[in-house]
Amino acid sequence: MNESSPSIAPTGPAPAVVAGMNLRPAARAAGPSHLEGTPIGQTIGTVTVVDPVFSCRDVNVHYGAKHAIKNVSLDVGKRQVLAMIGPSGCGKSTFLRCLNRMNDTIAGARVTGQILLDGQDIHDPQRDVVQLRARVGMVFQKPNPFPKSIYDNVAFGPRLHGLVRSRSDLDELVCTSLQRAGLWDEVKDRLTQSGTGLSGGQQQRLCIARTIAVKPHVILMDEPCSALDPIATARIEDLIDELKESFAIAIVTHSMQQAARVSQRTAYFHMGSLVEVGETDRIFTNPRHRLTEDYITGRFG
Ligand SMILES: Nc1ncnc2c1ncn2[C@@H]1O[C@H](COP(=O)(O)OP(=O)(O)OP(=O)(O)O)[C@@H](O)[C@H]1O
Ligand SMILES: [Mg+2]
Repeated sequence: MNESSPSIAPTGPAPAVVAGMNLRPAARAAGPSHLEGTPIGQTIGTVTVVDPVFSCRDVNVHYGAKHAIKNVSLDVGKRQVLAMIGPSGCGKSTFLRCLNRMNDTIAGARVTGQILLDGQDIHDPQRDVVQLRARVGMVFQKPNPFPKSIYDNVAFGPRLHGLVRSRSDLDELVCTSLQRAGLWDEVKDRLTQSGTGLSGGQQQRLCIARTIAVKPHVILMDEPCSALDPIATARIEDLIDELKESFAIAIVTHSMQQAARVSQRTAYFHMGSLVEVGETDRIFTNPRHRLTEDYITGRFG
């Protein structure tokens, strides 16, 4: 496949470049993209990575008659952030939920295809789904702390999974999880107060602390900042950057700027298909599918 740049008309003043992205449709509208005719259903870019944590092949999801994910093959790499972007309803959350079998909890949802986590099939009948969800943690759009103390929110998973032997071990795990989530200094004197009494941004960091306390391999995040203000968002983005040193992260976001800031790989979904995937810088500066280009330049979605 030809890797050359789409033509960018040398129009007017400097292009509207944000975080390395050309966000001005007019600057790219000089003619049909060289890949305009590529059919949906064939992913452009390299879906595999060396040493993947997740390896998904030909994944399909149906909700009753609705075909929500269509033959998606995609790897998730270790110690990196994969951003999933695309218009509302294109299947981002559905695909994310495949990775820890959350779609199992939705009546009428049917998932087919192969999903390997560290080389092992997550649909293996022998597989313990509770253990799977401990290894593949999830952070949701709306922070959802349990109506328990801050301490007990973080301690919940380690207790459930028997990860600690003593109260002092648990204290230490709660402390380090809150520190890694960047929340310790704000809550260390109020650990017995309810997690639901924290601000939205603090609640989201508490949910991240709760997730990392069980030492997952992967963290899935579904629009984790969409309910947060820019300052709280920046804190979570910094945190994602630190967490990727230890975990694989797959994040769904509607913010192109966020995808550009936090991810190393970006996957663009459209109507249930994975249209294009590649290095984030390349996707935002030199998209190879017209649909990707239209979406990142704001012409669609
Ligand atoms: N529980 C469900 N039952 C039936 N259809 C569903 C269900 N959840 C999602 N869908 C449908 O599957 C498709 C993909 O939905 P999904 O929520 O994965 O999209 P999304 O890309 O995450 O969208 P958004 O950006 O709005 O969150 C949509 O057409 C949606 O209506
Ligand atoms: Mg969604």
